[in-house]
Amino acid sequence: MATKIRRIGILTAGGDSPGLNAAIRGVGKAALGYYGWEIVGFRDGFRGLVENRRINLDRAALSGILTIGGTILGTSRDKPHRMVMNGETKDMTGVIRDNLTKWGIDCVVCLGGGGTAKNALRLHRAGIRVITLPKTIDNDVAMTDATFGYATALDIATEAIDRLHSTAHSHHRIIVAEIMGHRAGWLTLGAGLAGGADVILIPEIPYDVKKIADAIRQRSKRGSNFSIVAVAEGAMSCDDARLYDSAEKELERAKTLNDKIEAKRAIAALDARHQGNTMRLAGQLEELTHLESRVTILGYVQRGGTPCAADRILATRLGTACADLINKGEFGVMLAARGDDTAPVPLEKVAGKRKSVPRDHSWIETARRLETCLGD
Ligand code: F6P
Repeated sequence: MATKIRRIGILTAGGDSPGLNAAIRGVGKAALGYYGWEIVGFRDGFRGLVENRRINLDRAALSGILTIGGTILGTSRDKPHRMVMNGETKDMTGVIRDNLTKWGIDCVVCLGGGGTAKNALRLHRAGIRVITLPKTIDNDVAMTDATFGYATALDIATEAIDRLHSTAHSHHRIIVAEIMGHRAGWLTLGAGLAGGADVILIPEIPYDVKKIADAIRQRSKRGSNFSIVAVAEGAMSCDDARLYDSAEKELERAKTLNDKIEAKRAIAALDARHQGNTMRLAGQLEELTHLESRVTILGYVQRGGTPCAADRILATRLGTACADLINKGEFGVMLAARGDDTAPVPLEKVAGKRKSVPRDHSWIETARRLETCLGD
């Protein structure tokens, strides 16, 4: 049964990504113009719902934002159930529910990735009407064909590989380009394919550095004494993958609080060591191949700036379809992209899940046919 809607809220949470403003505009324009609702923007993620950090999203506020990167609302990684308030960590779920009732907000649209879906699910279970839209440059949100931000980041990372090619070629060097993606390799695999990287290393396929060096030496023998290695920030050697695997199993097995703290400490130590992984890899490759190696970390350049046309369209159509869904009274869902259409997916099916690159994905097979080294 459709709910009578008067005023909706919107927020952006987690890491920013190109297309967030396009989505805000899509939801906002459909809400204001097509449906005649009010729309309020909450600043800085879920914190805005606690501290009443808000802006009225009228037509003037929505004008001219389609092409702007980042988010006009600001973002944060605050969690409703574990929010730091005056130095103390508190569960603010009840406060958020009371605030929304007090302010007459009928539904909150949360733009974010898998973590945001998890937080939104908690709010949904507390009786708050929520809908999420999938954004992240990592493209790793479960149950959706695509996330906005990915296409733009893919273009940026591909252009970077193109530029690195000419300098690597001129200096006969190995250039190791670190691309974002702690847990998923979509961006590295996509940019590696589009940019013609010679080696592509992703978190889903642990690598053997000797095999990478062999592939680079083979290229040299064939007359190409330069190589581009596209490496995801979360890619790791087989040895490190084994260490992580056993530390995570240890955490699963942990029964007492002390065991859990110990296991988490072990994982944190591995994370800290992983920080320098790309530099280490470049050093190892230089040693094994005797080719000079350099590292380029693309970092936040990949997340900033104007969204590409594909992301603008995706974010806009998800935004307007979200307003339709609110009008139908369907909440507790993420609105997924399905081909040219959209589909609501219960948050339970998205929260805490990740869309990794399947080992038999067609892009992997394509890379193998090109004799691109995947490190395995
Ligand atoms: O937006 C996703 C992502 O870019 C990951 O690829 C990256 O590991 C992470 O965010 C880093 O974000 P931050 O430094 O803002 O926490």
